[in-house]
Amino acid sequence: MNSRSASALGEPLKRRPEQELPAPALAAAGRRLEGKVAIVTGASRGIGRAVAERLVEEGANVVITGRTEDALVEAVAQMPDGRAVAVAGRSQDPEHRATAVATAVERFGAVDVLVANAGINPVYGPLVDLDLQAASKVHDVNVLATLGWVQEAWRAGLGDRPGANVLVMSSVTGSVPSPGIGWYGVTKAAVAHLAVTLAAELGPRVRVNALAPAVITTRFAKALYEGREEEVAAAYPMGRLGRPEDVGAAAAYLCSDDAAWVSGQVLGIDGGLLAAGGTA
Ligand SMILES: NC(=O)c1ccc[n+]([C@@H]2O[C@H](COP(=O)([O-])OP(=O)(O)OC[C@H]3O[C@@H](n4cnc5c(N)ncnc54)[C@H](OP(=O)(O)O)[C@@H]3O)[C@@H](O)[C@H]2O)c1
Repeated sequence: MNSRSASALGEPLKRRPEQELPAPALAAAGRRLEGKVAIVTGASRGIGRAVAERLVEEGANVVITGRTEDALVEAVAQMPDGRAVAVAGRSQDPEHRATAVATAVERFGAVDVLVANAGINPVYGPLVDLDLQAASKVHDVNVLATLGWVQEAWRAGLGDRPGANVLVMSSVTGSVPSPGIGWYGVTKAAVAHLAVTLAAELGPRVRVNALAPAVITTRFAKALYEGREEEVAAAYPMGRLGRPEDVGAAAAYLCSDDAAWVSGQVLGIDGGLLAAGGTA
């Protein structure tokens, strides 16, 4: 039996030391979002920033949000002149959401794409010991604010122009138990279901989808991999952890007309982790 058939039968291939991991084979950006206006929340760094950068590369103008003004200003400075605007504020604050959406309309003329990405995970430990006040805050930011963004964009005319869509940020923890971050997973399951339910409500004017990443190398996930990246990556059939750009590429597809008949989907971005029976 050669090594390929061994892999097909479920025995993990041993990577030879001289065998390099494949370079990130992400396609060069096309221009699938030419003329579109997108809002990306939580986009001063990490996944949101990679999504915003990819949407801009593909032709969109973007409004990016986050709590820290300086970090947003720095992110905007890295994007082509005039194509990105920052609005600082807390995602869970309705006034901030209204300001950000109004800014998109005033500066760029409309909202075509909403990427509700901002999310938090400040609580660790078993659910039976969970501080319910802390749980409520996570729910506010991850679930209610995500819906609040959709409501605000809808009120501002999302769906009036063709190709409108929403992308929300779930997680693999929304479909498999993740010891220690159980409540975060519960909120991410709610976010996935929000996408499915909103897709049914808002079609045909607005498509709604969710992304469900496994570990992506950002500040947010550092505690899950720092100092042991190779060990954690061993559970992933693709042999590495995810990068923000992996999520950016998937987001650009789902936000573009290439996904014109894709709605109500929760797309795993997990390097094969769940297929291999892994947990987050
Ligand atoms: N990284 C992963 O492994 C992973 C896996 C699955 C899902 N996700 C999800 O992906 C999303 C982004 O995560 P990430 O890894 O990119 O995190 P990150 O690197 O920590 O970036 C988070 C971004 O959101 C902003 N932010 C945080 N809290 C906010 C709030 N209350 N209001 C507005 N902005 C806020 C942050 O800026 P400020 O701090 O300045 O506000 C930053 O721009 C989250 O929803 C997370 O749950 C991440």
